[in-house]
Amino acid sequence: MKVILYMAQTINGIIARENYNEDFLSHQNWNIFVTLAEDIGCFIVGKKTYEVVKKWEKYNFDSLNAKKIIVSRGKMSKLKNSYIYAHSPKEALDKAFELGFRKVLLAGGGTLNSSFIKAGLVDEIILNIEPFVLGRGIRIFSEEAFENKLQLRNVKKLNGIVQLHYKVRK
Ligand SMILES: NC(=O)c1ccc[n+]([C@@H]2O[C@H](COP(=O)([O-])OP(=O)(O)OC[C@H]3O[C@@H](n4cnc5c(N)ncnc54)[C@H](OP(=O)(O)O)[C@@H]3O)[C@@H](O)[C@H]2O)c1
Repeated sequence: MKVILYMAQTINGIIARENYNEDFLSHQNWNIFVTLAEDIGCFIVGKKTYEVVKKWEKYNFDSLNAKKIIVSRGKMSKLKNSYIYAHSPKEALDKAFELGFRKVLLAGGGTLNSSFIKAGLVDEIILNIEPFVLGRGIRIFSEEAFENKLQLRNVKKLNGIVQLHYKVRK
């Protein structure tokens, strides 16, 4: 299974404010995410991201034409049709595989990203860097003990965004 991590962040690696707001990210980031998620057909998010996005009016996961896998150690209330629940990163990938997917998009947040990369489960990383700095907030990777060498595959300039595409060396 190929796992592609996609994140939009400030130049200093912040993906959301301390209050979980992402108002500093541009609309273009959301469009890029939707295109990637629908092309791949399946994306995985942590429980916190699922809960945060559920409250948003302008942006939501429901309308996306893709399977959504929510990862949580706890129990979850009944999910809508296109949502699936998994207890761990590995279970999320097993469920995606059972559904016929051979590639999935990992879409945050920072805690789940760390769980995946620490377990050696991330193959590629696509980063959209916004022209913004923010001193406090949620980081692309929550603090955990891991390190990986990356290979830069591509750099794109998309209006104000710089998109970096890396392969994770294993
Ligand atoms: N800028 C971006 O591109 C972007 C993308 C995605 C999200 N975000 C933002 O990121 C923020 C949320 O990030 P976050 O780090 O607080 O939370 P998160 O990673 O979305 O979710 C954390 C939760 O996921 C579950 N989880 C994580 N690792 C697990 C594991 N190994 N096994 C089982 N369950 C696991 C746990 O749920 P339980 O506690 O239920 O067990 C954990 O509390 C939000 O503000 C969201 O808007 C930004």
